[in-house]
Amino acid sequence: MPQAHSSAPPSDTPAAHTRKPGSARHLRIAIFGFGTVGSSVARILVESKPQGLELTHIFNRKVARKRVAWAPASIVWSEDADAVLASDVDVIVELAGGLDPAGTWVRRALEAGKSVVTANKKLIAYHGIDLERLAAAKGGHLKYGAAVAGGIPVIPGLEQGMAGDRIERLDGILNGTCNFILSKMEEGAEYATVLAEAQAKGYAEADPTEDVGGFDARAKLAILMRLALRVQVDPDEIVPRSITTITSVDFSYARDLGCTIRQVSRAQQVDGLIAATVGPMLVALRSPLAWSQGTENMVIASGHYGGDVVFSGHGAGGHPTAVAVVSDLLALAHGSQRVEIPSAPARLGDEFEVPHYIRFLVKDRPGIVAAITTALAEEQINIRAIVQKAGYPAHALPFVVTVEPCKSSALKRALAHIQSMDCMLVEPLDLQMLE
Ligand SMILES: NC(=O)c1ccc[n+]([C@@H]2O[C@H](COP(=O)([O-])OP(=O)(O)OC[C@H]3O[C@@H](n4cnc5c(N)ncnc54)[C@H](OP(=O)(O)O)[C@@H]3O)[C@@H](O)[C@H]2O)c1
Repeated sequence: MPQAHSSAPPSDTPAAHTRKPGSARHLRIAIFGFGTVGSSVARILVESKPQGLELTHIFNRKVARKRVAWAPASIVWSEDADAVLASDVDVIVELAGGLDPAGTWVRRALEAGKSVVTANKKLIAYHGIDLERLAAAKGGHLKYGAAVAGGIPVIPGLEQGMAGDRIERLDGILNGTCNFILSKMEEGAEYATVLAEAQAKGYAEADPTEDVGGFDARAKLAILMRLALRVQVDPDEIVPRSITTITSVDFSYARDLGCTIRQVSRAQQVDGLIAATVGPMLVALRSPLAWSQGTENMVIASGHYGGDVVFSGHGAGGHPTAVAVVSDLLALAHGSQRVEIPSAPARLGDEFEVPHYIRFLVKDRPGIVAAITTALAEEQINIRAIVQKAGYPAHALPFVVTVEPCKSSALKRALAHIQSMDCMLVEPLDLQMLE
C-alpha cells in the first residue's frame, strides 16, 4: 500500500537518520511536465520500481492527451498545478522547462518544505543560488544532476567525486545539437544540410539559435563554474560565439593542422582571474574532445592535484536524462546530505592566452600576407604558420594563419585593422586553438 504522509522530515533531519541502514525513505513523487524527459522518468519509475520511489501525480496542461496505458491506475493525472503542489507529495520533479511558470512551481514547492528535482538548466543557471538557499531554509532539497550533460553524472562528480581537488579549468562539449552538426560537418557535409537533418531527427529546434548561438551551453557552463571553480557568474556575461560561421573549408584546414572543430565551453581560473567563453574552437585530434561524435557530451575538469578527469556519454535524450533525474530521486530517498559548495560572485573576463586559427577569405592581390603579418606584429603577435591550400579561385581565396598564444584583446585589435583592408571579402574567422 502506498504510504501517504504530508509532513515527512527532510532527509538530513535526525528522524531521517534513524532510518534502518540500507533502507530507503518512501517518497511520493509528482512529475511536472510529461514530455520527452518527464515520460522517460515515469517509465523508469513504473518499470524499474526503484526502492522508495512512488510516482503518485503527473501534471501537464491538457493532460488527457498525455495519458499512457502503461501507467498504473493509481497515478493522479492533473492539469491543476495548485492542487498537486498542495497535495501530500514529497518531491516535485520539474520537467516542463523554461524560467516561468516552472520557477514559480519550484519556489512554491520549496516554500512548502518539499524537495525538488529538475533538469532545468536555465532555471538553475539564473536562479540556482536563491533556490538552494530557499531549500536549505525550509528543510527541503534541490537537486539538478540532469541539468548539465543529461545522463552524464558530471554534477555529482564535481560535487562529490572531485570535492577534494581544486579545479582550475573546465573544457566541455555541452550542447549535443552543435556536436551533432560539427561532427557531421567533419565528414564533409555543409552546415545547412546537417542542420536540416538535425531538425528532422528532433535534435535541433525549428529556431536553432539557442543551441548554435551558444546560449544553451553558456547556461550550463555557468552552473559548472559554480560547482567546479566556486564562482557565481551571470550567464549573460559569458559572450557566446555562433557555430554558423564555420564552413567545410575550415574543417579541411583544421585537418591539415591535426585538428577538428567543436563547440567548446571553457572556463579557467588563473591567479584569481576568471575567464569563460563558449564557441567553436580548434581541437587537436588526439584530444578526447575530438572523439565526441553525434549528440555526445563531454566535460574535462582539470584539478590542481588530481589532473584531468573526463566525463563523457549521452548528454541529451529522454532516457539518459531521466536516469540522472531518477538517480537524484534515489539520492533523496537514501538520505542525501545537502552539499554546500562555497562560491562567491566573480567578475568575468574572456581573456585567454592561447594560440589562434584565423581564416581569411580574400580577393587575391600581391602584398596581402605582408599587410596581415605587419598588423599582427604591431600587436606583438607571432605567426606560427601560414597555410594555403591549392584549388581555390583567386577571386575568393581562403587561407589560414595560425598564431602563437596571444591575448584575445590584442588579436581583436589586429583583426579590426585587417578587416578594414579592401581585399577582405568577409570578416576573418578567429578560433581559439585548444592545446
Ligand atoms: N530533452 C532532453 O534531452 C533534455 C536534456 C537535458 C535537460 N533537459 C531539460 O529537461 C526539461 C524538459 O525537457 P523536455 O525535452 O522533456 O521538454 P518537452 O518534451 O517539451 O516536455 C515539456 C513538457 O512540459 C509541459 N509543459 C511545458 N510548459 C507547461 C506549462 N506552462 N504548463 C503545463 N505543462 C507544461 C509540456 O506540455 P505540452 O506537450 O503541452 O507542450 C511538455 O509535456 C527542460 O528543462 C530541458 O531543458 C532536456
